[in-house]
Amino acid sequence: MTLLLDVQDLHVSFHRRRQVVRAVRGASFKIFEGETVGFVGESGSGKSALVRTLARLLSKNATIDQGEIWYKGKNLLEFSPPELQKVRGKEIGMIFQDPMTSLTPTMKIGQQIAEAFLCHYPNEDPHPIVLNLLKKVGISDPERRLGEYPHTLSGGMRQRVMIAIALAANPSLLIADEPTTALDVTVQAQILALIQDIQKEKTTILITHDLSLAAGFCSRIIVMYAGEIVEDAPALQIFSSPQHPYTQRLLSATARLDLPHNAALTPISGQPPDLSRLPPGCSFAPRCSQAMQICRSQSPPAFDVGPSHCARCWLHDPRHP
Ligand SMILES: Nc1ncnc2c1ncn2[C@@H]1O[C@H](COP(=O)(O)OP(=O)(O)OP(=O)(O)O)[C@@H](O)[C@H]1O
Ligand SMILES: [Mg+2]
Repeated sequence: MTLLLDVQDLHVSFHRRRQVVRAVRGASFKIFEGETVGFVGESGSGKSALVRTLARLLSKNATIDQGEIWYKGKNLLEFSPPELQKVRGKEIGMIFQDPMTSLTPTMKIGQQIAEAFLCHYPNEDPHPIVLNLLKKVGISDPERRLGEYPHTLSGGMRQRVMIAIALAANPSLLIADEPTTALDVTVQAQILALIQDIQKEKTTILITHDLSLAAGFCSRIIVMYAGEIVEDAPALQIFSSPQHPYTQRLLSATARLDLPHNAALTPISGQPPDLSRLPPGCSFAPRCSQAMQICRSQSPPAFDVGPSHCARCWLHDPRHP
C-alpha cells in the first residue's frame, strides 16, 4: 500500500479575543492510497479543523502550532502560498456541508467548474471536461445546465455541482466534510450513492456524525474527542471490538448498524471539556466510568491495541494492568 498522507503530532488553535481554543491536539495518523477513512466524533471535537488544516483552508484566527503534514513525501506545512494553491484542487479536493455558501451566486455553474479546472490546466479546453464532470455527478442535460446560476438549482443539485468542482482537477484525495447534513433525507441518499461511486476510484476522507453511515462506507475509522484522536482502527474492529471507552459509549448510544443511514448519534451524558480551559489528564476522564487516578492527572499517549489499531487510553498501558 502506498502512503499518501502522514500527519504527525498536529496541533491547531483558534484565537478568539483572549481565548485560545485548542481545536486539534497532537493528531497523528496515516492515510494510504485507495482507503476511505471516516472521521467521527461529537460536534466541536475538531474534525473540520483537522481536515481544513490538511488543505490549509483555516480561518484567519487559526494557527498551526506544531506538527508535520507529509503528503506524497513532502511536508505541506513548509509549502509557500503559490505551492499550496497548486495542492488545493489538484491534489486535495474538498466538499463542504453547505453547498450554497461555497458557490459564487453570480457565476454560471459551468463557468465555476471550468475555473476549477483552468486554475490547474490553463491551456486546455475545459468544455468537454465540464460536460463530463456534470454527467459524472449525475446532472442530466448538462449542455443546458451549465448555463444556469446556483440559485436556480435544488440543494442536492448544488451539492452535485460542488462535487464536480472538487473533482475538476482530478485530485488524488477527496475530503467530504459532512457533505449531506444540509440536505433532505432522500437527497442525502442520492448524494451518498454518488460519493460511494467516486470513493471506489479515489482516496477519500469522509467526516460524519453518523457511525452507521461510516460503517457502510469506510475501510478505517478515526474517532475524535475534544481535539484528540482517541481511536484509529479498521472499521470492522471499531464496531466489533472498540477499545476506547468513548468509542464504546458512542456505539452503545448509536443506532444499530442495520438501521437506516440517517440515524444520527445519540449524545452521551455529560459535556466535552471547554477547549480553551482543558483540565489536566485525559479529556474524557470526567465522563468515563472506568477512569483511574492516572487518568485525571496525565494525558494518555496512543497505545497499540492490535494490528493497525490504536487507542489513547491508560487502560491499554501495558504497565498499568
Ligand atoms: N473559526 C473559528 N474561530 C474560533 N473557534 C473555532 C472556529 N472554528 C472552530 N472553532 C472551535 O474549534 C473547535 C473544533 O471545531 P470544529 O469545527 O473543528 O469541530 P467539528 O468536530 O467539525 O464539529 P461539527 O461536527 O459541529 O462540525 C470547537 O470548539 C469550535 O468552537
Ligand atoms: Mg465540522
